[in-house]
Amino acid sequence: MLADVDRVAVPGAGNMGHGIAEVVAMAGYEVTMRDVEPAFVEEGYGEIEWSLEKLAERNRLDESPAAVLSRIETTTDLKAAVDDASEAFDWLRIEARIIDEAAGLVGQGVATPEDIDTGLRLGAGFPEGPCRRADTLGLDTVLEKLETLREATGAERYEPSDHLRELVEAGRTGEDAGAGFYEYGADAGRDYTTIDVELRNDGLLAVTLDRTERLNALDQNMMNEIVHVLETADLETVRAVAFEGAGDRAFSAGADVTGFAGVDPHEVEVTPVFRTVAEFPRPTLAKIDGYCLGGGHELALACDLRIATTDSEFGFPEIDLGLIPGGGGTQRVVRMLTEARAKELVFRGNRIDADTAEDWGLINRAVPEAEFEATVEEFVDDLVSGPPVALRKAKQVMDEGRDADIDAGLRMESQAFGLLLSTEDMSEGAEAFTADRDPEFEGR
Ligand code: COA
Repeated sequence: MLADVDRVAVPGAGNMGHGIAEVVAMAGYEVTMRDVEPAFVEEGYGEIEWSLEKLAERNRLDESPAAVLSRIETTTDLKAAVDDASEAFDWLRIEARIIDEAAGLVGQGVATPEDIDTGLRLGAGFPEGPCRRADTLGLDTVLEKLETLREATGAERYEPSDHLRELVEAGRTGEDAGAGFYEYGADAGRDYTTIDVELRNDGLLAVTLDRTERLNALDQNMMNEIVHVLETADLETVRAVAFEGAGDRAFSAGADVTGFAGVDPHEVEVTPVFRTVAEFPRPTLAKIDGYCLGGGHELALACDLRIATTDSEFGFPEIDLGLIPGGGGTQRVVRMLTEARAKELVFRGNRIDADTAEDWGLINRAVPEAEFEATVEEFVDDLVSGPPVALRKAKQVMDEGRDADIDAGLRMESQAFGLLLSTEDMSEGAEAFTADRDPEFEGR
């Protein structure tokens, strides 16, 4: 038995919870088992009683079932459960090991912190990746924990990696220090080379594609950077995203064609950038001034809304390169436009002007240069001050419902509607309406 543990709190009396509580009590510890409803706790306790009887019948218990049961208390109050336990579960012990593994991989150049965090978030369902988590906890805290465990247990697995020590020695102890696995503060996120990113005070994340020498053509680096900026965006502050192209000639002239030659077909990976943009849980807007072609056009179509200057031109030149759009373009236009118009764009590779694009329903507005900024700001203002949860739900049910049958779509809508009725934003909206003032939505 561990000398410094005399009571263990087990949150949850379901199959796993009561199982853990039973084993821990059998090992001699005092246990507090907690669940949200008295009925769950009682049921869990009943299961333990039954199981202990069975074990006793088979002579598998060293003491009486009653003696083991006497060490188990139950509650529905989480605070009480944890307060009573002299040592709640030591998460840091587990986390420090995961973080150290990550540091080892980064140190050996096997993967970047972004790779590891994305992998564990998408692959293992972690709420945040271990590198990001480490930066919050403090790398010095993690190192100290490992050193203490190494000394106390003698176990090799707690030996901190060289890279973790190096980071701490270099003062990169995490978010509070301005840098850890990641950079914080002025250099937040990372230094992008192909995009400019600004988070405005009103919650607009403004992303500018900046490769003017190539008419903002999308190369692999730019696509990776867009994915990175969206995946690391803080949803508490970001209320909407706007994409635009630097310079006055193009939104983007498409995928960088200089990167096409010599590419082995089976190495072509249809990039996740278009999907990441399309599925971003906040409204997105493409601000188009100039050429909007190929992959640039697909990026604009992955956004929720599009506003363009009348000088802008839209097209899919891929067919002239012996290709077809590969970032969702064929599927998006055929759903968005009439089939005849969609096929005209994809088959002929010709460009259409912004007025035609508006007429066809490809974009929301075509406006003269002089009215462009003001029109965009009117849209942005509604997006950033709108209720985040309702906007997110609207986007989700419209995107998912578009490809579902009408009954499924209506069900999605009514579920979302029901959920929104319970939000604070809904009450705020109603109160503001009654008081004849502007609502202040918090996204709750
Ligand atoms: N990839 C890489 N470079 C590109 C590019 C692209 N998609 N589009 C434009 N550029 C580069 C040009 O090569 C040129 O570079 P340079 O000055 O070193 O020669 C520069 O951007 C300016 O383009 P340029 O062609 O000189 O301008 P333009 O006004 O004569 O023509 C376009 C503009 C957009 C009509 C023309 O650049 C074009 O057709 N681009 C290719 C579009 C395309 O096929 N995209 C789809 C790829 S799937």
